[in-house]
Amino acid sequence: MNFASRIKGLGPEGAYSVMALASALEKKGRDIIHLEIGQPDFGTFPEIIQAGKDAIDAGFTRYNPPEGYADLRETIAQYSQRRSILADPSQVVVAPGAKPVLLFPMLALVEPGDEVLYPDPGFPSYRSTIELAGGTPVPVPLIEANSFSFDLGALAARISPRTKLLILNSPANPTGGVIPKADLETIARLAQKHDFWVMSDEIYSRLVYDNIKAESIYAIDGMAERTIVVDGFSKSYAMTGWRLGYAVMPEKLARKVSLLITHAVGCTAGFTQKAGVAAIEQGDRYIAEIIERYQRRRNRFIHGLNQIDGLNCRLPEGAFYAFVNTSALGIPSAKLAERLLQEAGVACVSGTDFGKNGEGFVRFSYATSSGQLQSAVERIADFVNKLLR
Ligand SMILES: Cc1ncc(COP(=O)(O)O)c(C=O)c1O
Repeated sequence: MNFASRIKGLGPEGAYSVMALASALEKKGRDIIHLEIGQPDFGTFPEIIQAGKDAIDAGFTRYNPPEGYADLRETIAQYSQRRSILADPSQVVVAPGAKPVLLFPMLALVEPGDEVLYPDPGFPSYRSTIELAGGTPVPVPLIEANSFSFDLGALAARISPRTKLLILNSPANPTGGVIPKADLETIARLAQKHDFWVMSDEIYSRLVYDNIKAESIYAIDGMAERTIVVDGFSKSYAMTGWRLGYAVMPEKLARKVSLLITHAVGCTAGFTQKAGVAAIEQGDRYIAEIIERYQRRRNRFIHGLNQIDGLNCRLPEGAFYAFVNTSALGIPSAKLAERLLQEAGVACVSGTDFGKNGEGFVRFSYATSSGQLQSAVERIADFVNKLLR
């Protein structure tokens, strides 16, 4: 079949492929520990569920404005202001998940031949959305020794007259790294000097540990007019299946993105949006509890992994992923991930599913129970010990 060239490079997302393989093994009776998918292990908070149910009963089941209901956009603008993202509700576009607001601003801004810089290793949809928009993906390596931030010299060296946009992700998937404020300031200067846009994916901004703060580049002087902040409800409020995300951007761009939403998805489910208002208004105390829980799991899990000969993992500052350096084992990451699943019953994602610079790493999600994490460490240790024997 002759497919359009814009989809030729599209591949599946590694985590979903591993989940399918792991489920097939479970059907055959295998006991698998799922550390592959980036999804909280607890349910959506009760007040949010209730708000969603009430909204269905109240009839919020119909078409609604493509850019989202006014009350949700207002609530998001107020929440963003708490993070020094001083935006007006007219700059907020609501969407079914964060993913559409990664794609649509890209479609609105990137011309064929424009270059888009993105982190490698990074969330797989970045490269795919750049390609769908007809842009040229330009990977910028994240450096393990820099707590998985960019080497800013290497970033500057990749900027060209065709650079249209740079994607940032802090805290990051898959590394858990948080970009320091000083780096954001340098990046902001580069964006202004070379006149490019920044798309800042801040979906993990609430999931940070040890009192670290994930700052937004939007708040830096001169950046509001060239920044798109992408955020959403999936990770912080355990709402992955509700499909609710949003982006903050200059109003003129917001109008174009709303048109893309109009023609691509129409609108976001009304009852989901009402649940979103409840999430922002009532979710804080749950988030505080969850951060504590994740932090405890992170500390124990990373400590356990670092006890295993041949594995080395930096303490992630945010999100819920351990990005483990496995290069001492001498096996390509994709093979290692496959063997961990088949031989140890631990599902994880190869670093190479996040880009070429992910070679030598595997990603484990620690958004699961302490008991499962402990068993996973034991299984991984047995596997690695046999391998090194
Ligand atoms: C960095 C990053 N951005 C965006 C998304 C997509 O979020 P959503 O499920 O709300 O579309 C994910 C989901 O895994 C992610 O890890």
